[in-house]
Amino acid sequence: MCGIIGILGNSAVAGNLLDSLKRLEYRGYDSAGIATLENGVLTRVRAEGKLRNLELRLADHPLLGKIGIGHTRWATHGRPTEANAHPHATSRVAVVHNGIIENFRELREALAAENIKFSTQTDTEVVALLIDLALSRGLSPIEAVRETLPLLKGAFALAFIFADEENLLIGARAGAPLAVGHGNGENYLGSDALALAPFTNRISYLEDGDWVVITRESVTVYNIENHTVVRPINIVAQGTLVADKGNFSHFMAKEIHEQPEVVGRTIAHYVNMANGTVSLPEDIQIDFSSIDRLVISACGTAFYAGTIAKYWFEQLAGLPVEIDVASEFRYREPPLTGRGLALFISQSGETADTLASLRYTNAGGWPSLAVVNVPTSTIARESTMVAPTLAGPEIGVASTKAFTCQLAVLLALAIHAGRARGMLSAFAEQELVTALLSIPALMSKVLAHDVEIEQLARDLAKAKDVLYLGRGLSFPLALEGALKLKELSYIHAEGYAAGELKHGPIALIDETMPVIVLAPKDGVFEKTVSNLQEVAARGGNIILIGSATAATEAGLERETAIVMPDVHHIVSPLLYALPVQLLSYHTARVMGKDVDQPRNLAKSVTVE
Ligand code: G6P
Repeated sequence: MCGIIGILGNSAVAGNLLDSLKRLEYRGYDSAGIATLENGVLTRVRAEGKLRNLELRLADHPLLGKIGIGHTRWATHGRPTEANAHPHATSRVAVVHNGIIENFRELREALAAENIKFSTQTDTEVVALLIDLALSRGLSPIEAVRETLPLLKGAFALAFIFADEENLLIGARAGAPLAVGHGNGENYLGSDALALAPFTNRISYLEDGDWVVITRESVTVYNIENHTVVRPINIVAQGTLVADKGNFSHFMAKEIHEQPEVVGRTIAHYVNMANGTVSLPEDIQIDFSSIDRLVISACGTAFYAGTIAKYWFEQLAGLPVEIDVASEFRYREPPLTGRGLALFISQSGETADTLASLRYTNAGGWPSLAVVNVPTSTIARESTMVAPTLAGPEIGVASTKAFTCQLAVLLALAIHAGRARGMLSAFAEQELVTALLSIPALMSKVLAHDVEIEQLARDLAKAKDVLYLGRGLSFPLALEGALKLKELSYIHAEGYAAGELKHGPIALIDETMPVIVLAPKDGVFEKTVSNLQEVAARGGNIILIGSATAATEAGLERETAIVMPDVHHIVSPLLYALPVQLLSYHTARVMGKDVDQPRNLAKSVTVE
């Protein structure tokens, strides 16, 4: 993962490189660095920790070159120290790298045999040294890159600049994304269009195996066979590239509060408001009546959206669903027999495991449908069909608005499938669509509980362990709640199916352990209340998220409940996601944690 940027400019580029790195911080933020070419000499500034540290270093040691590369890191090989920070360089070449060079040990041994010394523990240094070796043998920079790329195995994106080459930037893509920005007399390379947004909206995307030679006047792309190829220039809508916190103190808070708007926008894309039916965009052509198997794969929060969708597709459309985390699916190698559809869910559209799973089903000849938030992403481009979520850029590492938008799209698809498969009547469809359309306004009501939830979070912040419980559609949400809390506050949390409590986790319950119970009024509500009583009987410290009647029926005092508006049980996950997100957000904030950039994580995980 990591973010990379390269600029061939006409004035000093360090400031612009830094701005782009700020936009790429979602890809990693444990160290960062910049290299520019000054009077033909490669000069670097690097710093451990957040970009702010690099910014301070640059204030003391300004870089003046008009061509440069930058990197923000999520460590894979070697600790996040300054020595391991990118760019990695010799006197002849500097390189930034996103991804993993899987055969770096072999390459390192080969280089060591030539008596070449290493100064870092990274896989990237091997690339710099291989190029350096090729240059020392008299190859030109272009030849050196062309000869070196076939030696590298793994998934990576690379950007290079070279000593004495004031008008040359080279990039390469194998697995990890890389985009070329076309400017006026300036050209750019970056991990995504967001990084390039301040400079240009004219973007072309390299394909796997491509490498590109960039000057101020030209962009020449070569494919894996070293033939020149044309990759089209896309005009990326500026609206999708805006990313600022507005009046909020964190991106996560802003993104939580944006949900009524972006979920409303997403729903509007999939329903016909006039007649209360689902109306899929024209380019999604699926005959659900001819499918007998749906296979879903995704990672992290998107996986929990998929798990909720499993309930929807099975209950509303009678469609058997298998779901795996993508890192398992791709290696489980499930047989792709029968008339199936593969469904992938990803905010970024770049998650390495999800992409590999998509490539697996594509190779097996199954049609694929991707629910993605970044329409220009690799997953969007390689899927048969795309069902976009219209959440806008999500910057906070913990996914919030993308999750609820994914749920909105998945429910629309499940309702559509239910109609196509004769499982839902026109009346039932209208009832569900009406329930879906009620969500944005109900979300606004729930967000008004922000202050109460903050109060509860103050207690939660004192806990060492937290249990989330739910049944049915609320079970995956309990898993999501636990994930959110642990990734943001580092409090140990687990999500459990409420009915499974008695098979183990009940042993953990005592008065020090908060138990958060998700209990919308659904078909299993009474059973969830019984489980809740089992917790109460053992002195458990319950926080109930449920309707006003739920709190009364459970016999709980108001202060231990987050009272939710009444909502159709099928759409409840869209609404109940909000208190779950707010609890984690406030807990982490009260504890002084880095909400938008929790330790060790990154937003877009482009490594296995
Ligand atoms: C990372 C992020 C999560 C996200 C997951 C999947 O782990 O921190 O918030 O859910 O990746 O990412 P995707 O972009 O595929 O949805």
